[in-house]
Amino acid sequence: MTATGRSVVAAQARAIADAWSPPGAPESWWLTAATLTAIAEEDPLLDLASAIPPDRLPPLLLAAAVRFLASGSDLARHYPQPGGPQPPRDPAFGAELATFARERHAELAALCAGHRYQMNEVGRSADVLPVLALIGAADDRPLALVDLGTGAGLGLRLDRYHYTYRAADGSQRSTGDPAAAVRIECAVRSGAPPVPARIPTVVDRVGVDVEPLDLSDPHVLAWLAACVPPEAGAVTRFAAASALARAEPARSARGDLLDVLPDVIASLPAEALVCLVDTYVHVFLPPPTWNGSTA
Ligand SMILES: C[S@@+](CC[C@H](N)C(=O)[O-])C[C@H]1O[C@@H](n2cnc3c(N)ncnc32)[C@H](O)[C@@H]1O
Repeated sequence: MTATGRSVVAAQARAIADAWSPPGAPESWWLTAATLTAIAEEDPLLDLASAIPPDRLPPLLLAAAVRFLASGSDLARHYPQPGGPQPPRDPAFGAELATFARERHAELAALCAGHRYQMNEVGRSADVLPVLALIGAADDRPLALVDLGTGAGLGLRLDRYHYTYRAADGSQRSTGDPAAAVRIECAVRSGAPPVPARIPTVVDRVGVDVEPLDLSDPHVLAWLAACVPPEAGAVTRFAAASALARAEPARSARGDLLDVLPDVIASLPAEALVCLVDTYVHVFLPPPTWNGSTA
């Protein structure tokens, strides 16, 4: 890779580190920020990241590979476990990560070559739920969810989770099953989201993805867990949501959503109101084409 390409990857890693370390960032964000900072600054890590094709999100892919290999090594003590606390900040983490990358270079390179970075953030359901509730309140029909770009399908069971929305003044509103294993917390910075008293009824659900992910495959599950930012809340959410998804698999359709959507919609119950959900798939779609008609 050229020096320019290397500095681009370093800048990408630094930008992600900055996003995880704004003023007032929760203490539990330190490890994600420190990992990306080390990738930007430490040669053994930057060498590995710079060798990854640019379209494969080099800093994030390498961070996932490190997390994957860290299990069973000394490095594992820094990473949170599901349901557990965030291990304390360690200023020597970056140097330790660089040593790990030097020693395990070949394994890390092989992992990066054989995998894609794949983000599954079930917390995004906190954005979707109020919108679905508004739609449900305006229409008597039960809902049928089509989750576009569903990945591992964690957004498909958003009616099974418990949600708490906390405002800056300390007030909060909760909804959903109080006994749910998946508990999503959302900080409200301004305004008041329309948090429903009752979660709308979902009668059918289908995920669409070019590459749906099979959580029953232990290697797939372990890789997806490694892609989760090493932040205690995210790790716990992923573990609970993936356990529910494995226990209650939902339908998925493989293919480009632009091709498979008509058949998917035709397969849904006629009495249901179809809701198409997009949590970060639109960024992968081609720009809209304009056929020149003004009609
Ligand atoms: C950023 S991930 C979001 C995953 C999940 N919705 C979430 O919020 O965690 C985007 C997903 O869209 C899928 N994808 C990208 N382009 C697609 C397309 N044209 N049709 C269907 N799925 C697509 C990818 O495979 C990936 O799983």
